[in-house]
Amino acid sequence: MLDKTKKDWWKSAVVYQIYPRSFQDTTGTGVGDIPGIVRRLDYLQTLGVDVIWLSPVFASPQVDNGYDISDYRDIDPLFGTLEDMRTLIREGKRRGIGIMMDLVLNHTSDQHRWFQQACQSRKNPYHDYYVWRDGTPDCLPNDMQAVFGGPAWEWVPQVQQYYFHQFAPQQPDLNWENPTLRREIYDMILWWMDQGVEGFRLDVIDQIAKEPDKKITNNGPRLHEFLRELSAETFQKGCLVTVGEAWGADIPRAKLYSAPDGSELSMVFQFEQMCLDQQPGKEKWDLAPLPFVKMKQSFARWQRELHGCGWNSLFLDNHDLPRIVSRWGNDGQYRARSAKLLATMLHGMQGTPYIYQGEELGMTNIQLPIEQYRDVEIQNFYRKRMAEGYPEAEVLRSIYAKGRDNARTPMQWDDTPNAGFTAGTPWLPVNPNYTTVNAGAELADPDSVFAYYQKLIALRKQYPVFVDGDFTLLEEEHPHLFVYERALGAEQLLVVCNFGDEATPWTLPAGWENADTLIENLPAQPGTLQPWEARILLRRDADARS
Ligand code: GLC
Repeated sequence: MLDKTKKDWWKSAVVYQIYPRSFQDTTGTGVGDIPGIVRRLDYLQTLGVDVIWLSPVFASPQVDNGYDISDYRDIDPLFGTLEDMRTLIREGKRRGIGIMMDLVLNHTSDQHRWFQQACQSRKNPYHDYYVWRDGTPDCLPNDMQAVFGGPAWEWVPQVQQYYFHQFAPQQPDLNWENPTLRREIYDMILWWMDQGVEGFRLDVIDQIAKEPDKKITNNGPRLHEFLRELSAETFQKGCLVTVGEAWGADIPRAKLYSAPDGSELSMVFQFEQMCLDQQPGKEKWDLAPLPFVKMKQSFARWQRELHGCGWNSLFLDNHDLPRIVSRWGNDGQYRARSAKLLATMLHGMQGTPYIYQGEELGMTNIQLPIEQYRDVEIQNFYRKRMAEGYPEAEVLRSIYAKGRDNARTPMQWDDTPNAGFTAGTPWLPVNPNYTTVNAGAELADPDSVFAYYQKLIALRKQYPVFVDGDFTLLEEEHPHLFVYERALGAEQLLVVCNFGDEATPWTLPAGWENADTLIENLPAQPGTLQPWEARILLRRDADARS
């Protein structure tokens, strides 16, 4: 177990993300719940993770699956009760697993008490908790668009004003300029800290300092000022792990967010690599092949530049992204092997690795008829592109490749009906491959993707070079190989990944002949790497000399 009283303990941690509605249902509603998570804690302990990032379980009308919070201090009945949450925190702790809550601080639900009050009158003290602008019903303050489509402004006749929303109209943006609102948020966070949570993920945190009049959404001028105040008033009073979601983060900004003095956050999720397989300047739906060389050079840049003066989060999957094995791997013939390669590539780097539920099984994307998708973003996108006259096949191809419901299908526990996820009707269909891809089968197989993740997690705990080593990219321009070295004093790692369905000729760099193999997804053959072959070698300086 990690000693979580030690400063920066999270640098050695591995985080597991749970999307509660799709994890484990215990009541037959077809929606996962908190008691279901408690039931599966032993599984997570077997995997070896230290923290669970829980996508929002707060009270919510669920327009955006909980990312629209109507009460930050209560649990949605869909998922259970506050008492269930306390049980989860306690039972997690017993197993060395902390809970990281997902705080949505950029906006609330329109059903939040604050917003209901805010709409009553301009004089209401809560009015200024939100972002309002004057206008007339037929003249919007400006032409800003919401992320989920449509204008970013919504008219409220009662106050004769528009409110600003960066996401759905049911997700009004909070006004961080208001110090009373900020204090209210800090008190709520301190309350959760008292409940024993060990960390927070901060949803779209780089959007809190918006300035809609200047059309600024991410990275507003006061962003880092707000973050430093937030951190000083809350996180710094404990020994927490914090990660901000920051689509607009570049390297200089990430250094501020994750500064070693702890003045802001532990780390951020940045999306530079995740935005490479789309047409530049267009939307994520406008598909382009992954520029492999750019991708590894981008990872390398982040690795090099944050070393010693910031901290990376390492992730390939989450509840907003398609399944990585379908996206960058091969989810057909080489599903398991390529899933292991992707894990090797990521877990060999410096940073805190995040595993999204089912990634450790090599779960894949799904293709559904349009009416079965539940995601507000998918449905809006479909309507918009169809209205714009795009061919339906093309619209669906984008959804199959990038739609968020790919990651949200229920967790595949076993080969019983509905993959052991629910005794009822699942809220979103189970991926039909659950009969072969499931936790039960993988736990019984020492060669499974699960077993591989388990081993990778254990290696990170065993060898300090995984946590603290520096990073050097080799084979920079090679079109299939992602090879890098990590070094910490005498201890060195070589991570070798052959991306793609082709075998590639390759020999070990000089000095690595006597190294130990820490992990591999195939037995090595001299002179060549098989499709999707991956391994990590370890040497000490003495080995290199011998
Ligand atoms: C973040 C969440 C996403 C949500 C959005 C609005 O990007 O990860 O799921 O829809 O914020 O809260």
